[in-house]
Amino acid sequence: MIVDLGTGDGRAVLARAAAEPCAFVIGIDANAAAMAESSRRAARGRGARRLTNTWFGVESAEALPGPLADVASTVTVVMPWGSLLRGVLGLEAAVLVGIASIVAPAGRVEILASVTPKDAFVGLASLDGDAEAVIAGAWAVVGFELVSMRPATAGDLQAARSSWARRLGDRTAWRIELVRRR
Ligand SMILES: C[S@@+](CC[C@H](N)C(=O)[O-])C[C@H]1O[C@@H](n2cnc3c(N)ncnc32)[C@H](O)[C@@H]1O
Repeated sequence: MIVDLGTGDGRAVLARAAAEPCAFVIGIDANAAAMAESSRRAARGRGARRLTNTWFGVESAEALPGPLADVASTVTVVMPWGSLLRGVLGLEAAVLVGIASIVAPAGRVEILASVTPKDAFVGLASLDGDAEAVIAGAWAVVGFELVSMRPATAGDLQAARSSWARRLGDRTAWRIELVRRR
């Protein structure tokens, strides 16, 4: 089971569910309105175009797991903002605990994130320098190991099918991959 957390308009969920019919792909976002059209499209299609392997849920990362405890083999978090961004960067414990609670043992978290100086996170105005150690340390507390952290390639951004990645301009996005210890 794949969970796209902070899915926004949910298009990435539809694309992945169509490309991977054997996977069940869940989109979660705190904002219901953004996902509504994708949720309707998944249900509305006829015959082979109907996606029976998706589900959309309205929830904030802080309130997880609900029914999703330990279910996800992969959680993707793409171009997060606000508390979700702070959480994946290790600056908001409740978000980190929420995400960790839905990942199955040995499951993965794949993050594509960027920050701008105006995000003004203490010590994390950019994601180079000490950020990797801060992020690795925060995720270790909830039982995860940092597998890799590197600038995202054009291929990474394309594969994520993010509606927001197109707005990056010349900012660097970082690809961060973590695995839950057994
Ligand atoms: C910039 S959009 C990215 C949407 C999508 N992943 C994409 O790349 O097109 C960030 C999304 O994160 C969601 N979000 C922010 N904080 C959240 C939280 N604490 N829990 C759940 N969703 C959150 C917002 O509602 C928004 O839809």
